Amino acid sequence: MTETRRALPSLDLLAGVPTPALVVDVDRARQNHRRAVACLAPGQVLRPHFKAHKCTALAHLQLAHGATTVCCQTTWEAVVLARQGVSDIMVTNQVVDPAALAELAAAAGIASVSALVDAPVHLALLEAIARRAGVSFGVLVEIEVGMNRCGVGVESDALVELATAIAASDVLRFDGLQSYNGQVTGVIDPVARREASIVSNELTRRAVERLRVVGIDVPIVAGCATAHLPFVDELDAWTDIQAGSYLLMDTTYGAFPDLDYPGALFCLATVIHRSPERIVLDVG
Ligand SMILES: Cc1ncc(COP(=O)(O)O)c(C=O)c1O
Repeated sequence: MTETRRALPSLDLLAGVPTPALVVDVDRARQNHRRAVACLAPGQVLRPHFKAHKCTALAHLQLAHGATTVCCQTTWEAVVLARQGVSDIMVTNQVVDPAALAELAAAAGIASVSALVDAPVHLALLEAIARRAGVSFGVLVEIEVGMNRCGVGVESDALVELATAIAASDVLRFDGLQSYNGQVTGVIDPVARREASIVSNELTRRAVERLRVVGIDVPIVAGCATAHLPFVDELDAWTDIQAGSYLLMDTTYGAFPDLDYPGALFCLATVIHRSPERIVLDVG
């Protein structure tokens, strides 16, 4: 990151703010958001990841400027978003823990909520809590496209079996696929990152095709991150782009030559000691 990208635009505005304080430059965040939305191809929507900032005011800023809806990582984040008026929330995780399932149901009592599955046990748990709480969930089958985290294989029987079982449920709705290709979020070289992303794109297209062949429509294919934004319009397998960091940015992504998203989050501090050897701040 260059000095200009780091610099706070106006320190005058911050006079009198008690320190230490985390400060968001909202204008910059809004500009970053508009830049991200402008990267999308027709047919793609931005479904920003809430875990990048965990701030409902920023989620509403994203929703007011072109994001159709949001995703989050934990069920508590889903509850908070639902209580703050976000009407459509995707939890980008399998939910297994009883307390987390109860939170998912609480969020689904207020908003439209979806979660991921990659095994029959996830379906059974979602169905049971949905019936008990009198709610319904959207469900996405997670596929494994190189991240080596969760997800069923693109060529697995489980892919079709899970989608079929969701579609047959009276309390679950088959929303589509989660194909998180985050393995490239550490690849600084744009060429290598794009090439690896195209491999995931083909795997994801193949999974969609396998479901369509057996008559299952796939309305949503969610995935991708800030690292994909420079070429996301070429990644035609995905409909919902769940980038998160682009809004406030971080120093890791600051080293990526093709990501022009200035930092919008700062830690405001006061110098409490100054000597020829050192400067000490009140930031702990
Ligand atoms: C499942 C999932 N989706 C989206 C993101 C957003 O990625 P980024 O903050 O790099 O845009 C992450 C980040 O870790 C993630 O785990």
